[in-house]
Amino acid sequence: MFTAEMRELIKKVEATRTQRLGTAFPRMSPEEKDEVLKAYHPDYRESGFRALSLGVNRGDKVPVELADLLEANSRLAGQPLDLSRPAYDVDVLIVGGGGAGAAAALEATARGAKVLVVTKLRLGDANTVMAEGGIQGADKPDDSPALHYLDVMGGGHYTNKKELAAALVKDGPGAIKWLNDLGVMFDKEKDGTMVTTHGGGTSRKRMHAAADYTGAEIMRVLRDEVQNRRIEAIDFSPAVELILDADGKAAGAVLLNLETQEYLVARAKTVILATGGAGRLHYQGFPTSNHYGATADGLVLGYRVGAELVFADTIQYHPTGVAYPAQIFGALVTEKVRSLGATPLNIDGEQFVYHLETRDVAAAAIIRECYGRNKGIQTPTEGQGVWLDTPLIEMIHGEGTIEKRLPGMLRMYRKFGIDLRKDPILVYPTLHYQNGGLLIDEHGRTSIPNLYVAGEAAGGIHGRNRLMGNSLLDIIVFGRRAGAHAGEACRNVRLKALTLDHVAKYQQALADSGVVTDRVSPLVLPHYTHGRHED
Ligand code: FUM
Repeated sequence: MFTAEMRELIKKVEATRTQRLGTAFPRMSPEEKDEVLKAYHPDYRESGFRALSLGVNRGDKVPVELADLLEANSRLAGQPLDLSRPAYDVDVLIVGGGGAGAAAALEATARGAKVLVVTKLRLGDANTVMAEGGIQGADKPDDSPALHYLDVMGGGHYTNKKELAAALVKDGPGAIKWLNDLGVMFDKEKDGTMVTTHGGGTSRKRMHAAADYTGAEIMRVLRDEVQNRRIEAIDFSPAVELILDADGKAAGAVLLNLETQEYLVARAKTVILATGGAGRLHYQGFPTSNHYGATADGLVLGYRVGAELVFADTIQYHPTGVAYPAQIFGALVTEKVRSLGATPLNIDGEQFVYHLETRDVAAAAIIRECYGRNKGIQTPTEGQGVWLDTPLIEMIHGEGTIEKRLPGMLRMYRKFGIDLRKDPILVYPTLHYQNGGLLIDEHGRTSIPNLYVAGEAAGGIHGRNRLMGNSLLDIIVFGRRAGAHAGEACRNVRLKALTLDHVAKYQQALADSGVVTDRVSPLVLPHYTHGRHED
């Protein structure tokens, strides 16, 4: 329900609506984008970052909340553990049960590998199910992987690892077909053609969706498939440390049984980290669209064994998180709302940014409107927001479009007495995605032998900014690639004695760098009782 003050302000939105409908708002020039990013994007706030004092990326700046976790004690410091009698002994250990982990499990199993998936919450509890708007894939006649590649590189400000961006787009059409064949119910025309839309920064309509719950639909199918193929998956058992062998190869992980608080050893010939993102670290105090388990665990585990981080200083703030009502503060308002024509407006009902600028630019423009130009709308909880003029959607595409294409959004707002077909909604950027992560190659390999990373924990694919729909694509493409490679590679792996010496070395490096802390990582679960996310 809107307050009386908000209702008054909505009149200004209504007053400009018809006139806006016929007018295209200009896109920013490269110089204008650069200017707004530097002045308003949170990645440029010096106070949000600090340089790491140890490890491969020593000296590199990362968000302070992440630095705190990378410069923390192992949960196993001082814990005696018998590595010689593992509770599990497999070919491929997959840490994480979201889309990337499930895709990897299916491909590794298809190659005859014995696979174990371990997951912190339940199989499928991941950012994948939170993904709404769609998955990109250049499979239409007017499109091509080459055009998709240019969009990916442009969106990432040409900083992306080219070979990773190329792998992403080349596998795109195959990924959509794979999902469709498995049973994902993509939106289709009556003749069976996939319905596709634009996202921010796309030159072609290549966003395939299942209404506005695309990730949930994809995860439904992948989880079924993992279960149908009888792949072993253990819930509530996060990895808290990787294990190496005497040669320095990845050789498994120590798991924490969250029910019994026991540590269990999983020995594996290859390990795939598919642990997802970091939204629950609430960088710079932002709310998040992420699921409860998104605490950067994979980055901590990988970093402790010496895997390199790339673009860890670049975070994606989705331009349209819920600013009001407070009960759903920070929840995602899918970019598809803007793809379908809703435009961002300030307190005077004026548009201030092209509705499909890339996410970093759109988020920075909204922050500027609220705090640089004082043109935001104050919420009852002292926050700021801008209008997203959702009634435009049905003026453009016809009555019934919102119910058909955005049923999740409609339901979410209806619970609070807001009908987005009739009234605009209030939005503000929300912490959505880590653009960077652990550096991989085209097969998902890190520099640590037999250690792979897939999904949001991996870095390099998207450079400094990811486009909408390329994360669902990346979890499928790189999940499958990592699973396939690990599933083959494990045949030739002969493990030596397992060791946690690297943990002792890391503890020593902490001391040598003068870090004195009682922080412990990985965080495993966020908690909201302290100001800072420390254990
Ligand atoms: O806006 C969205 O639906 C989010 C999609 C994505 O992050 O790819």
